[in-house]
Amino acid sequence: MTLIPELTILQPADKEQIDLPHTLEDEWAAGKKRLYIESYGCQMNFADSEIVAAVMRNAGFATTSSAADADVIFLNTCAIRDNAEQKVRHRLQHLTGLKRLKPELVVGILGCMAERLKTKLLEEKVVDIVAGPDAYRDIPKLVEEAESGQKAVNVFLSRDETYADISPIRLHSNGVTALVSIMRGCDNMCSFCVVPFTRGRERSRDPHSIIREAKDLFDRGYREVTLLGQNVDSYKWHDELTDSQANLSLSFAGLLEMVAQINPDLRVRFSTSHPKDITDEVLHTIARYDNICNYIHLPAQSGNSRILMLMNRTYDRAWYMERIDRIREILGDDCGLSTDMISGFCSETEAEHQDSLSLMDYVKYDYAYMFAYSERPGTLAAKKYADDIPEDVKKRRLSEIIDHQLAHSARRNQRHIGQIQRVLAEGTSKRSDDFLSGRNDQNKVVVFPKGNYQKGQYVNVLITECSSATLRGEVV
Ligand code: SAH
Ligand code: SF4
Ligand code: F3S
Repeated sequence: MTLIPELTILQPADKEQIDLPHTLEDEWAAGKKRLYIESYGCQMNFADSEIVAAVMRNAGFATTSSAADADVIFLNTCAIRDNAEQKVRHRLQHLTGLKRLKPELVVGILGCMAERLKTKLLEEKVVDIVAGPDAYRDIPKLVEEAESGQKAVNVFLSRDETYADISPIRLHSNGVTALVSIMRGCDNMCSFCVVPFTRGRERSRDPHSIIREAKDLFDRGYREVTLLGQNVDSYKWHDELTDSQANLSLSFAGLLEMVAQINPDLRVRFSTSHPKDITDEVLHTIARYDNICNYIHLPAQSGNSRILMLMNRTYDRAWYMERIDRIREILGDDCGLSTDMISGFCSETEAEHQDSLSLMDYVKYDYAYMFAYSERPGTLAAKKYADDIPEDVKKRRLSEIIDHQLAHSARRNQRHIGQIQRVLAEGTSKRSDDFLSGRNDQNKVVVFPKGNYQKGQYVNVLITECSSATLRGEVV
């Protein structure tokens, strides 16, 4: 069983387990060709789709929320696990049917699966365009080529592309919370992970453009930004301008502070932190600003030092536990914590699996994203280690991990009962129009009677009940 939150929260690690409704705005501008984008995978991909929509709008396309009405369909794909790719393959079968009815339909595969499989994807007859994560400026040209009947591919990875100057079209937004990409790529080489291959070298985005984007969002009524990167703690920027006053050197802590200073009513979240890199300076910055949310996603992956070494995570169990202790010391027990866990990595023994469970017991995460190991071609682990844990063992270990987490989530949620929580209302509750749904500081979904409140408002809610996924309460 997986935890399904009340709200559609785009989570850092894996959105596959949550069915996302598509909220592409419908634009029926006369004479315009229509684009439909479907996004898979992590928040980075969702943010990228918003950049693609902006590029396409500049090229004269309108967006639609209906695949059947579209002239161009893009699937922005994920390659993190085999089942993420299978999902896209199934979707392509469906699109084949659509294209039979409408032969001029252009179908493009974007994102990580495009980058991983490159021209091989053209073996799927329905695919006209293959575009990797750094090729999105080129997309209108690729569409033109496809319209003239040629297959079009651009999978070049860049060392400096950050799309800093492109103002995203907020396809996935509720008008209250928005994703802001602060870096791209990843230079870590976790042995199980395909991301360094699909997203290329790590690069940080110009902070001036980040601040401009966040300020603009606030002015337009948004009240929360999530700063996104695969490893936000390695954000760095140095600009050398002729005016020495304007020189700016920034670490992630510095960037976080600048965004927090935009307005105390703008909540700031970020994802993902890496246990090897998260600094005390970042923790102190969170402590200093009420509007930086008290929530850290700190993926452990495993609780066993030998497995962590094979995974090339570059920290061990003791290091990870020290970071958790430091978080609790600086931010208190109230800080929300979540993790990603992988079961059945190459050669993992039962005792080593028990170490993952005991680490979870030690931390008592509020939330976790949990996966069975899926070997990815080309990764270090695929080359060096045998994928030798039988599927049924991986699954059983995964369900033990999930059971532990469910118990911890329930306990961590119960501690909020009787507390008054500041909730940013994000929209009406999925279950009833009479209720609003939002999140507290710790990223937990809180549902409360709507009264005269509206989305975008901060509301103080006395928590009266909870499940392992949701808190409920009354406005005070
Ligand atoms: N940059 C983030 C994670 C990005 S990928 C970090 O370093 O934590 C999201 C999650 O998918 C990972 O944390 C990991 O738990 C999971 N994952 C990645 N590759 C996987 C694989 N081959 N099999 C199973 N899970 C995997
Ligand atoms: Fe993958 Fe590791 Fe980079 Fe995260 S830090 S994206 S798990 S290589
Ligand atoms: Fe994200 Fe999946 Fe790519 S998790 S970075 S979309 S492989």
